[in-house]
Parts: sequence; structure tokens; C-alpha cells
Amino acid sequence: MQPDYKNWMPKELILYTLIGTICCLILFFVFGISNLLAIGTLKTILKTVFLVLTIALTLVVLWMWLMYRAFSYNGKRQMSKQIIDGISRHIHIPDGGKCLDVGCGSGALAIAVAKRNPRAEIIGIDRWGKEYASYSLALCQKNAQAENVTNIQFAKGNALHLNFADETFDAVTSNYVYHNIPSRNRQDILLETLRVLKKGGTFAIHDIFSHIRYGDMKAFVQQLKNMGYDKVELINTSNGMFMTHMEALWMGLAGSAMIIGKK
Ligand SMILES: C[S@@+](CC[C@H](N)C(=O)[O-])C[C@H]1O[C@@H](n2cnc3c(N)ncnc32)[C@H](O)[C@@H]1O
Repeated sequence: MQPDYKNWMPKELILYTLIGTICCLILFFVFGISNLLAIGTLKTILKTVFLVLTIALTLVVLWMWLMYRAFSYNGKRQMSKQIIDGISRHIHIPDGGKCLDVGCGSGALAIAVAKRNPRAEIIGIDRWGKEYASYSLALCQKNAQAENVTNIQFAKGNALHLNFADETFDAVTSNYVYHNIPSRNRQDILLETLRVLKKGGTFAIHDIFSHIRYGDMKAFVQQLKNMGYDKVELINTSNGMFMTHMEALWMGLAGSAMIIGKK
């Protein structure tokens, strides 16, 4: 059995957008050719609207397909795999220790960490909402089974209010989750994750840390240092580490970075 980590660009979303594009194209021809539904100025306006929509949606479908291809675990680029492997390398868990992966999706990062730390216990939580409909608890469990990983558990949970006591984990990690969460202060979501990390525990959190999404991350790094955190670093991953600068731009991933350190 092979694991199936799905794709950060959901196939269903590409399909629905393609269906919308085809509908607009049909409506363009209906209004462009026939005089039955509209005539004169109204016909010209509708024809133009549906032509513009068809062109715009075609470009969106093309962009989504290119993203899908770049992220795919089976494709040539395998960007997702590279990112997951890169983050998991920063997670060090003592034997018998515990690690939390927040927003585990299809289980890719949690399973990669579990494989690297066979004597630790990994817990992956996610809210598994409808925006990533192909991800589920059952899929995570199936993927762990396919990878022969047994030191892992998955549960439903919310990154905004983690259902764990302070200082429960020896390591915490997360990948491309918090920028998806509507919030006025995403630094608070980071602090919620770090709340459940033990003193001395390590963290590696990868996301789009652009100013517009997170505010001043340099100040946040300093804030953690002032709180006694050690070796805190914000590492740019869009300068060739996980993706090129050009890829980050066209894929909408500019600002991708990893915050690492020790509590
Ligand atoms: C782009 S996917 C990344 C999945 C996984 N971390 C990976 O690297 O493959 C974003 C994930 O964040 C999850 N998510 C979004 N909001 C969440 C929340 N408030 N609490 C927990 N998970 C959340 C989604 O359900 C989805 O699985």
C-alpha cells in the first residue's frame, strides 16, 4: 500500500473552477450567436462579460494546474516533499518524548517526524474542514499504516485553542497552516502553539510570514528571545532553500519562512 498525501492545491477546486470556465464559455456562445435571450446593447454587454470571465478563469485554472504539478508527491518538482523533509530535519525529540504537529492535513509532516524519531510519540491534530475536503483523520491513519509508522496518533483539534495543558510537548511543528486561519493577530496563534511546548523543547514552524499576514516578525523573534527562548531564527525558505524566489512569487508563497528555536 502506498501513502497518498494528496495535494495542497485540491484537485476538486481545479475541477470546479474548470466547470465554471466551461459554463462561462457556453454562455459566451449562447449570447454571442443567438438573439433569443438578449439583443442590442444587453447582448454586447453579456457577450463581453462572459468572454472576460472565460479568459480570467482559464488563466486561474492554468495557474492551479501548475501549482498542483509543482506540489505533487509524484511529479518531477516534488516541492511539498522537499518542504516536509526540510522542516522535519529541525525537529529533535528525546527518546520517549512527544511532538505535536498542528494542522497535520494528510499526515505528511507528522509521519516524516515520526520516521525520524522512532522512539518518540507524535500527535497530529487538524480541524479537517471543508476547504481541504480530501484531508481527514482516516486518511492520516491510512498513510501512517502505509508508511509502517506506529509511533503516531491523530485527533481533531483547533490551532486557535489547543486542547493540551501548558508544556505538554518536547517539540512542536506546523507547516502552511496559520496563514489559512482568519485572525487579526497570527502571532497569537504562534504563542498558542508555543504554550504547549515544554521548557527546553524545540520548535520548527513553516508558513508565509509576510508582514501583511503576521505583522513584524523580527519584533516577534526578539519578543521570544526576551521571554528566554534560545537560538530563535526566522529562516527565509524562498531563496532557494525550499523554493526559488521566482517560484515563491508566481505561486503566491512569497514570505515563506521557518521559525525555529528552543524554549
Ligand atoms: C495547506 S494544508 C497543510 C497540511 C499539512 N500541514 C501539510 O504540510 O501537508 C493546511 C491545513 O491546515 C488545517 N487548518 C486550517 N485551519 C486550522 C485550524 N484552525 N486548526 C487546525 N488545523 C487547521 C487545514 O485543515 C489543512 O489541513
